[in-house]
Amino acid sequence: MIVAPTAASVAEAARLIRDGGLVAFPTETVYGLGGDATNERAVAAIFEAKGRPSFNPLIAHVLDAAAAKAFVAWDGTAARLAARFWPGALTLVLPRLKDSSLSLLASAGLDTAAIRAPAHPVAQALIRAAGRPIAGPSANRSGAVSPTRAEHVAESLGERVPMILDGGPCLVGVESTVLDLTTATPTLLRPGGVTREAIEAVIGPVALSNGIPNGAAARKSPGQLASHYAPSRPVRLNVVSVELDEGLLAFGPSPLPGASLTYNLSPTGNLAEAAANLFAQLRALDRPGIGRIAVMPIPETGLGLAINDRLRRAAADDAAGSGR
Ligand code: TXA
Ligand code: MG
Repeated sequence: MIVAPTAASVAEAARLIRDGGLVAFPTETVYGLGGDATNERAVAAIFEAKGRPSFNPLIAHVLDAAAAKAFVAWDGTAARLAARFWPGALTLVLPRLKDSSLSLLASAGLDTAAIRAPAHPVAQALIRAAGRPIAGPSANRSGAVSPTRAEHVAESLGERVPMILDGGPCLVGVESTVLDLTTATPTLLRPGGVTREAIEAVIGPVALSNGIPNGAAARKSPGQLASHYAPSRPVRLNVVSVELDEGLLAFGPSPLPGASLTYNLSPTGNLAEAAANLFAQLRALDRPGIGRIAVMPIPETGLGLAINDRLRRAAADDAAGSGR
């Protein structure tokens, strides 16, 4: 059920979470499927509802750096990054504290945990009311396009989630950047809402590990399967012309002519606007009458890194993805 976020509905959602239930909640990046991150059964229920083929580790959502310190080994780099980007679209991977109460399943057997403080006021109100960290992958069936509106969650998860808090469309629109701080040089495991450039301006060089399928990065951040954000129609990237049966995902002031249906990620060529529109427009183009989705080139700078990463996954049509 989709409900407006009021003091009463947030309190009810928090009670559900404390009781081990699941609640879908808005964040500034995408909607999350939330459960008590300290409750193994709740975390197991998240994997079950998503239909994840394997136990990819989950992000624990907290209010701030002070809360994070109760669960992971905090250091100076984490402190500088949190001071600059929290609350916001940056997830930090840090060593679990020995006595960390975070679910082991949430870490999928790794001795590290991913943690982030979301900026959305409804997410913050829910975490505060629940009084515990909330584990939250994107609130969609595994492998499907991430939800940026409450209706997307209802379409993808249906009865599997009893309550969906409606926080409106997500302002960032792509998932958080995942940065591993347990390596000698911090490693970008997933490009996302905070750009590599912005991170490097705070902590210096960051190593890239852009989720090459089945490579080291895939093992380190198991969510990085190739075909992962896939619409049901084939996706063709960097097109310079459009075919008759295609729907066009355009970018910039000059959308290619000839498509049967066109959405423009950003007519002015603004990458933040494009990120915010990405998943909703991919969904809108994934409809009967459209044979394929053609995507115009997006610059590989700033937020373009995250956008192109998600588009490459949407276009990947490999064995790894068929298990989603
Ligand atoms: O924006 C977001 O990050 C959204 C919202 C809801 O917060 N959440 C999200 O969660 O995208 P999910 O589960 O779809 O992606 C989490 C990513 C996965 O790629 C996972 O492999 C990685 O973070 N991850 C989680 N824990 C990790 C760990 N201990 N070490 C390495 N990677 C980890
Ligand atoms: Mg996801």
